[in-house]
Amino acid sequence: MVQDKNLPLQESNLVFGEGSSEAEIFFIGEAPGIKEDQLCRPFVGRSGQLLTKTIESLGLKREDVYISNIVKRRPPENRDPLSEEIEAYKPYLKEQIEIIKPKIIVTLGRFSMNYFIEKAKISKDQGKTFKVGDYLIVPMFHPAAALRGTTVLNQFQESFKKLPVVLKKYDDLMSGDDK
Ligand code: URA
Repeated sequence: MVQDKNLPLQESNLVFGEGSSEAEIFFIGEAPGIKEDQLCRPFVGRSGQLLTKTIESLGLKREDVYISNIVKRRPPENRDPLSEEIEAYKPYLKEQIEIIKPKIIVTLGRFSMNYFIEKAKISKDQGKTFKVGDYLIVPMFHPAAALRGTTVLNQFQESFKKLPVVLKKYDDLMSGDDK
């Protein structure tokens, strides 16, 4: 159970994830921030507002997708999650993915990207599509990085526009028959 007292970061609240159980797209961030900790919901602070707005620019609603993080509790002072924290919460993310069975997993930032594709580099690989097991992984910049500069913001928004195309080509991409 995710309420297990042996899991790390017990001093902060559990931010499990939210969205549709039928979601075709599953967004995975790093770990909750202060606002997420207060409201027990993922991506509801400034980065979350950008994420929500960009999801809506595709004609989707936040409720149509699923949103969660690798680490389900806020690290103190928003420090990077430690590898043992990522490891401890791994089984929960794995099960969330298995239950939702999305077509596309969008990783937001390098921690969730490297969780699926160990050797990937964010500036080189963001916006590309990778087939990993039963899923298509599309790494993207973290929205917090997009808020820090217009170049990254433009790349973030451009990469989002590829999602409907990837969804449409899903069967071909999964069968390795992409033209
Ligand atoms: N940053 C993340 O990675 N996740 C959140 O839920 C909020 C900010």
